Amino acid sequence: MLARSVLLQLANSKQLESFVRRNRWSARAARRFVAGETIEEAMPAVASLNAQGITVSLDLLGESVRNEEQVAATLDTYLRLFQTIHEQDLNANVSIKLTALGLDINEDLCYRNMVRLLTAAGEAQFVRIDMESSEYTQRTLDLFERLWEGPENFRNVGVVIQSYLRRSADDIERLIAMRARVRLCKGAYKEPDTVAFPDKADVDASFVRLMKRLLSDGNYPGIATHDEKMIDATIAHARAENIPSDRFEFQMLYGIRRDLQVKLVKDGWRMRVYTPFGTYWYPYLMRRLAERPANLMFVLKNMLKG
Ligand code: FDA
Repeated sequence: MLARSVLLQLANSKQLESFVRRNRWSARAARRFVAGETIEEAMPAVASLNAQGITVSLDLLGESVRNEEQVAATLDTYLRLFQTIHEQDLNANVSIKLTALGLDINEDLCYRNMVRLLTAAGEAQFVRIDMESSEYTQRTLDLFERLWEGPENFRNVGVVIQSYLRRSADDIERLIAMRARVRLCKGAYKEPDTVAFPDKADVDASFVRLMKRLLSDGNYPGIATHDEKMIDATIAHARAENIPSDRFEFQMLYGIRRDLQVKLVKDGWRMRVYTPFGTYWYPYLMRRLAERPANLMFVLKNMLKG
């Protein structure tokens, strides 16, 4: 628990970020969780997952962007990504963080960028808005709702709910009533106890409750976890309620529990792998290390080899 907390704190350290990003060996270790630094580098990983019957959600790494030029470059990369997915006939959608599209600069700028992205995505592409720390929860849900209920009535967009947040039971009911597409995950940020359940048992119990609501009444939910207990509970609920395997999908992160990804597909379940790429991999890597501090040994060993 302490290691998790320290690693999540360090995820915000600019000094450590600059050291780790410049270190050739940590960059190499990050490749376990990151498919490459450019679109071109990431595409073979997507093709290989597709060949195993696994669909993909591609994420251009980047968050908390406060510079308009960088926001414009991010939007441009996503537009090129749609083109590449189409040209290479890949089975992939995309995920994005609103702070990469300008939420920290100006909400209207971010909204306009999302409108551009979703318009370019069209019917062929689905865009998932990732959920960031609780500071952004309400703004993210508001912006999502604006896109969903607004004049364009976008339906090619979905959102994420984190089971560690105390508010999530209410949010899920509202999103189910809207017929919105939801990805459910546990939540990856350092949050105060007033906002999030501090005990893993409560986070897990909340996950199971929300998963059941989404499976029974939600619109094609994504059940995003590597936790076999959560996966078993999902399968048990689907079987008990006669919910067919094409009414939802499991989702996991690139490089994590590859064995389980393949097994679930062999057992007839749908699996999507969230596949990040890009140069801003440091906070993402730190959150993955926080989830399983044993991964830290893997990175340190690589760094020491240098
Ligand atoms: P838990 O952390 O309890 O781990 C269960 C088991 O899974 C571990 O015992 C271990 O075996 C394995 N495992 C988990 N993490 C591992 C790791 N890093 N390395 C190796 N093994 C690991 N969060 C968020 O706040 N906003 C978001 O938008 C998203 N999006 C998202 C998409 C997808 C597809 C996934 C799978 C996850 C996210 N997350 C996220 C992250 C999520 O909130 C959570 O932090 C991680 O999934 C870890 O939680 P688990 O459910 O896997 O369980």
